[in-house]
Amino acid sequence: MVEITLPRNSRPTDGKTWPKPDKAKNVTEFRIYRWSPDDDANPRIDTYQVDRDDCGPMILDALIWIKNNVDPTLTFRRSCREGVCGSCAMNIDGTNTLACTSAIDDKKAPVKIYPLPHQPVVKDLVPDLTNFYAQYASIQPWLQTVSPTPEKEWKQSHEDRNKLDGHYECILCACCSTSCPSYWWNSDRYLGPAALLQANRWINDSRDESTGARLDNLEDPFRLYRCHTIMNCSKACPKGLNPAKSIAEIKKKMVDRQL
Ligand code: SF4
Ligand code: SF4
Ligand code: FES
Repeated sequence: MVEITLPRNSRPTDGKTWPKPDKAKNVTEFRIYRWSPDDDANPRIDTYQVDRDDCGPMILDALIWIKNNVDPTLTFRRSCREGVCGSCAMNIDGTNTLACTSAIDDKKAPVKIYPLPHQPVVKDLVPDLTNFYAQYASIQPWLQTVSPTPEKEWKQSHEDRNKLDGHYECILCACCSTSCPSYWWNSDRYLGPAALLQANRWINDSRDESTGARLDNLEDPFRLYRCHTIMNCSKACPKGLNPAKSIAEIKKKMVDRQL
């Protein structure tokens, strides 16, 4: 059921303003969403001053600097710090993107950081992506065949391999799905752009022999057809992918197979 307004206990309040670090000459202000499941308090926005002469150039560097130097309770996910793992996705100045590939200098201070929108929050900047990953699992993202397994490998022409471009690069960061209004309102039933881009990756794979079953799995008013081509997903993707195009391709394949 869609809730149009925030429940009273989820409205952010003004939080703590941490002092400017001693002797810092070049600081940038960050306003960061904080919420902990360990107390009954509303979320709050804490304000931090980051010493830029002691910190790396990226938003993720600033978060790590704050955690190491100011407030060890600040919680966020990160791993690769080079745009490969997808774990540092968050909402920075109103845009879903990766903290590790976003330069502080490209943002206007104060830099506002929130968790990815419309997902339950585990703590601070960590969203609960359980449903997102379950939807990914539901498209069965592995090669499915009925032909006898070849002795060496499943072969593919260069031309067929090229059909996977624009799909295999997806790092499942969820920036696209959590920027999609249709997903916000129906994430329990609509698969969302990330899972559908991945579904198209397997539908396009010339080696896969479950194309019909994969399309059957998506033939549903909600799982696929809740996409209304609003295009937020493609604008948000930090890897430059185009999930809206993948969704349109799946819809076309649905029509083609009925002709
Ligand atoms: S194009 Fe479809 S999937 Fe992308 S944001 Fe719009 S409704 Fe969502
Ligand atoms: S399509 Fe882009 S935004 Fe969406 S999950 Fe994949 S990498 Fe992230
Ligand atoms: S830390 Fe891996 S994508 Fe940012």
